[in-house]
Amino acid sequence: MRELSRKVTGIAASATIEISNLARQMERSGIPVINLSIGEPDFDTPQHIKDACIAALKAGETHYAPSNGIPGLLNAISDKVNRENHFSCSPDQVIITCGAKDAIYDAMEAVLNPGDEVIILDPAWVSYEPCVQIAGGKPVHHPLNARTFQVDDTILDRITPYTKMVVINSPSNPSGAVLNRASMKIVSDMCTDYNLIALSDEIYEKLIYGGVHTSLASIGDMAERTITINGFSKAYAMTGWRLGYAIAPIPIIRQMSKIQQHSISHPTTFAMFGGLAAITGDQQCVAMMKNEFMRRRDYLVNDLSLNGFGMAPADGAFYAYVKVEGDDMEIARRWLEKAHVAVTPGTAFHSPGWERISYATSMENLREAVVRIRNCQ
Ligand SMILES: Cc1ncc(COP(=O)(O)O)c(C=O)c1O
Repeated sequence: MRELSRKVTGIAASATIEISNLARQMERSGIPVINLSIGEPDFDTPQHIKDACIAALKAGETHYAPSNGIPGLLNAISDKVNRENHFSCSPDQVIITCGAKDAIYDAMEAVLNPGDEVIILDPAWVSYEPCVQIAGGKPVHHPLNARTFQVDDTILDRITPYTKMVVINSPSNPSGAVLNRASMKIVSDMCTDYNLIALSDEIYEKLIYGGVHTSLASIGDMAERTITINGFSKAYAMTGWRLGYAIAPIPIIRQMSKIQQHSISHPTTFAMFGGLAAITGDQQCVAMMKNEFMRRRDYLVNDLSLNGFGMAPADGAFYAYVKVEGDDMEIARRWLEKAHVAVTPGTAFHSPGWERISYATSMENLREAVVRIRNCQ
């Protein structure tokens, strides 16, 4: 066969694959595994959202739609951003995509030229680096302070003449940490001083326990240089709907729009009506899911601490990021093989020495998992 694309073959397979393959193999052979490697809410999509989608299907919303998304949803997102995220956003600064992941991919393709450097804060969600690489950019990893998980001035050491972008993600997958205003200020000052574009992934904004969410674009002049990523997967339990969005300055949206026009055209038309119901409907469902995540987090953090585990501040999302002594890949393998508990090793997020434990599962599973992990230490 002819040589395949070097930029794709050069991308490393995810470090999670070995563990998840092993977990699947065990399940196939009848061993019940408690899966705490899950990155999606264990709730069903709220009924009023499903009903809106079904009504759209029945009403014949089964054809092509405008490439950036249906006008109603663009308007609703713009209203939501002005109201909740405290920066100015018009509907033509919004593009609706097939999940937040697609928005991140389009954003990288729209912004980067070969050799452009992108600063990624570690621990980092698994797809930032590949998206940068596919777009021809160069990922530059910067480890966050391993106690506070906040940004400090050492990030400035990563700046080179090729730096073009910085990626932040608050609340964070995998650490659960929420960036404070001081961290945001360091990032925004750096972007202004070095004329950088920021990509701020805010997909977990509704899942913060205690503090408040700050959008990077709401600080100083950041709205002029920030691509804000968000979506429906985590807040509304809509992972399978594949619906997300980006908000950015119009010149960036124009380029992202071209990519969308020539690739997916637009997200599924009737799914966008579900998204519209999610954003404009009763937000009680979000509060209910958040309260349940918080109850599980409180239990898990307390129980893990009692068992001697150190952790990142679990202030948001639905993950506890647990410090382990030794090789995190080997420990994840041992927990799986001996305790039948699947977690995600920190190596997958460019931060060896940690395990990500998802609490998007029942209390019963969490209780049993902690007992099993303790017994196989
Ligand atoms: C930090 C972060 N960003 C983006 C995504 C992608 O979300 P979506 O399902 O909307 O593509 C995820 C999903 O796991 C995530 O954890």
